Amino acid sequence: MSTSIGYGKIILLGEHAVVYGYPAVAAALERRVQIETRRGSGMVILSGGSAMAMRKRLPSGGPREEDSFAWAYQAIISSLGIEPSAIHHDFVVTSDIPPRSGLGSSAALAVALARALDSALGLGASERAIAAAAHAAESVFHGNPSGIDHAIAQYGGFGVYRKGTGLVPLRANPFTLCVGQSGRSRDTRTCVQRVARLHRDNPSVALRSLEALGLLAQSGVDAILRGDRAALGRAMNHNQEELSVLGVSCDEIDAMCVAARRAGALGVKLTGGGGGGSVIALADDPERVRGAWKQAGFESFVAAVGGAQPLETAG
Ligand code: PMV
Repeated sequence: MSTSIGYGKIILLGEHAVVYGYPAVAAALERRVQIETRRGSGMVILSGGSAMAMRKRLPSGGPREEDSFAWAYQAIISSLGIEPSAIHHDFVVTSDIPPRSGLGSSAALAVALARALDSALGLGASERAIAAAAHAAESVFHGNPSGIDHAIAQYGGFGVYRKGTGLVPLRANPFTLCVGQSGRSRDTRTCVQRVARLHRDNPSVALRSLEALGLLAQSGVDAILRGDRAALGRAMNHNQEELSVLGVSCDEIDAMCVAARRAGALGVKLTGGGGGGSVIALADDPERVRGAWKQAGFESFVAAVGGAQPLETAG
């Protein structure tokens, strides 16, 4: 039996701008998808007990929301050049990443599944092939992903991501963040479309924000490398303002940002696609921020980000 993992992620700075070619800074979250591989018949067994057989024939009419997992699985198999009848394993999935919250759960699942299939079938796939398989799956879930989620899911640590160039690792010390749940599902696809509409209809407004986000990502890299928490917090706050201008925040996220700043957070912002999902706060007293969120009805946890763990273990 072997274990494969994919890391959850947060985007510290630069979401949405990354879709337009600007840099973004992301980090692995101390939460992950883990897949145990055992002999079987090609089932993917999700935590909670639901099992999905590898389908020989997919439903007609293209991916629909309820079938997206089956299509994503199929996309990984085709990308890795696997003949479905060659799979004599089941894949048992566990995850502690809250789903649909902008924390990269689908990318972590895609990477872990690609690694599990690679290892079970002894393919010897390159990291590039794992990335291509994860990208194919993410395209089913999200349409046209920049690739930042699955890059971090694959490598862990901190990284600066640019479309085309990929992930450049950043050697920095992990630190902790408060991660709060807005209680509303994040809606990456809609928010990416909203920004695209603004970019088309009001390019000067959109470009001003997108460029600012790119510059903030660059200054954030310096702050992370220097360990300058105050500067990183300021960049996060400014990042959140620009995301509001782009129209991808929401009332719950705005309320969480106000509460976190009142509770002493150095910086706070949404992470990921927006419209809901998670909020991250950098704070010297994380429990104070959590307390403020709890009082306002928002769940949260504290987690290290930027940790680098082994990519795969076999036993
Ligand atoms: O919502 P998530 O965790 O999938 O993050 C989306 C990040 C965006 O920059 C908004 C889109 C992308 O593809 O990079």
